[in-house]
Amino acid sequence: MYPTNKIFLIGFMGSGKSTAGRKLAFQLNWSFFDLDEKIQKMAGMNIPDIFSVKGEPYFRKLESQALHDLQHETNAVISTGGGTPCFGDNMDFMISCGLTIYIRMTPVSLIERLEGSSEKRPLLIGIDSNGLPDYITSKLAEREKWYSKSEIVFDGVNNDILDLLSLIKKQIR
Ligand code: S3P
Repeated sequence: MYPTNKIFLIGFMGSGKSTAGRKLAFQLNWSFFDLDEKIQKMAGMNIPDIFSVKGEPYFRKLESQALHDLQHETNAVISTGGGTPCFGDNMDFMISCGLTIYIRMTPVSLIERLEGSSEKRPLLIGIDSNGLPDYITSKLAEREKWYSKSEIVFDGVNNDILDLLSLIKKQIR
């Protein structure tokens, strides 16, 4: 692995990628980009509206474009959406131009975090608290295939994000 100047944070909805990204960027004195925020700016509407008005395929197109637009950024921490690595060539792209970090959470902690979240997530619309455990467990199992290609797999349940800092400091310039 060569030193990198871009970090991509990867993981399921609710795994704390944006919070972690902001903290890491602050500690490294790097820029921070939240892919969902970038997509909302590009579309001129919020994520739930993009899904309901334009549809998921349109969202995925914008998501991929927003990601590839970051290619020439340097000294940047980028938090991705939960589905970002699982569409098109997004995962290979991130591996090829940065350090990929999967913030891994157990289904139990994700269920707890998502149940307590006030954020509107289009993929969870219509799933009540009885259906949430099954949905999260199977979606996570499906997506692990992409997530686990990440260079670093970080246990997001038992560790503080600052523990990650010493791991990544060896791999950045
Ligand atoms: C999605 C996750 C969301 C957002 C969109 C789709 C997904 O981001 O990109 O609702 O497919 O898992 P977060 O992971 O930040 O919730």
